[in-house]
Amino acid sequence: MLLILNGPNLNLLGKREPGIYGSGTLEDLERQCEEWGAELGLSVTCHQSNFEGQLLEWVQQAEGQGFTGIVMNPGALTHYSYALRDAVAGQTLPVVEVHISNVDAREEFRHRSVTAAVCRGKISGLGWAGYRFAMEYLNDLQA
Ligand code: DQA
Repeated sequence: MLLILNGPNLNLLGKREPGIYGSGTLEDLERQCEEWGAELGLSVTCHQSNFEGQLLEWVQQAEGQGFTGIVMNPGALTHYSYALRDAVAGQTLPVVEVHISNVDAREEFRHRSVTAAVCRGKISGLGWAGYRFAMEYLNDLQA
């Protein structure tokens, strides 16, 4: 049972800088993740919020709710949210950080992730496939 979390501005997928983030919407992405989950035999719950505190609560609650891993695209919070970092560090579920775009090929401020160090790993620049690879990794941990 996986939790897929998308952070600020990812509700604008499809409209937001499509040259960077593609033309698919958040709804399309979430449906795709559910389909991939079904292929892997996993149930998947997807949430998006523009609010840091809401993301913290989802991370804090995930373990108690029976999730076995988290795929997290924190959006710009990646680059400065020590609160999100501490929330991830303060629980024991494996978390994989995903970025649709190649953050290392973009502005300097995107090169730094304050959250990646407390995640199992980070996938960046592979588009939506990054979510799929993260889900496969988390699924393999259960085997
Ligand atoms: C992003 C990259 C971040 O730098 C940016 O702030 C986002 C999306 C990505 O998926 O490529 O909102 O996390």
